[in-house]
Amino acid sequence: MVQLTGQTKLDIPGLDAELSSQGPQKILERALSLFDNLAISFSGAEDVVLIDMAHRINKDIKVFSLDTGRLHPETYQFIDQVRKRYGIPIEVMYPDGAEVEALVKAKGLFSFYEDGHKECCDIRKVAPLRRKLSTLDAWITGQRKDQNPSTRASVPVVQVDNAFSTGENPLIKFNPLANWTSADVWMYIRTYEVPYNSLHERGFVSIGCEPCTRPTLPNQHEREGRWWWEDAGKKECGLHNINQTT
Ligand code: ADX
Ligand code: SF4
Repeated sequence: MVQLTGQTKLDIPGLDAELSSQGPQKILERALSLFDNLAISFSGAEDVVLIDMAHRINKDIKVFSLDTGRLHPETYQFIDQVRKRYGIPIEVMYPDGAEVEALVKAKGLFSFYEDGHKECCDIRKVAPLRRKLSTLDAWITGQRKDQNPSTRASVPVVQVDNAFSTGENPLIKFNPLANWTSADVWMYIRTYEVPYNSLHERGFVSIGCEPCTRPTLPNQHEREGRWWWEDAGKKECGLHNINQTT
């Protein structure tokens, strides 16, 4: 039983058991009814599906995105396209300038190819995410189980995010698309004419930062386009550290 701010108690494993057989719309409805102070974490196709669904339930949804400073120009255009399409503010979080400067001065702009992506991701993604999450009671992500069989196969629909909870306050993490496949996501995108990143038209499937993302070939797993020089089990940047600890 998790004690939430404002004295409410919530049985998260029970809620997960109840919601895991339900569709993403029902999961979102429940998340939005349980929490006022929650936000969708947005970078890719899955997240816009969630924004579209949430927008149909409540037009005041909160959305944030982490700008690492290394995104493709197409991704910046996509973020703005989504902002205009749904008429919502998108809070863009930036890394600490002094930390980026120190890393680049010490190791150059492409250190991740030599000693792994963790250091750069910690500075450019994880620290800004931690800053944002410290202001929220719950967050919503577009993770799917089949995105990465090595690290995401057990992603639940709702969980306590121990990796980012602060002090006494548990942070709740909703993954409404955990049980959806990529085909389900793209069916929704086509049906509801949801905006998507134009890089998908050039063979990109899973899209992150420009130097760490490449298109995939037919029948390659989507995750093979991310940090391709590293082992499959290391292909998490720290946003979803909870997947490695549970
Ligand atoms: S990552 O950890 O490998 O980069 P992935 O690209 O699979 O994550 O995305 C999974 C979910 O993490 C997205 O649906 C989104 O909720 C969140 N996410 C990933 N990257 C970002 C980002 N730059 N800004 C905001 N949320 C992000
Ligand atoms: Fe740095 Fe690559 Fe991680 Fe982006 S994905 S923060 S460029 S290591």
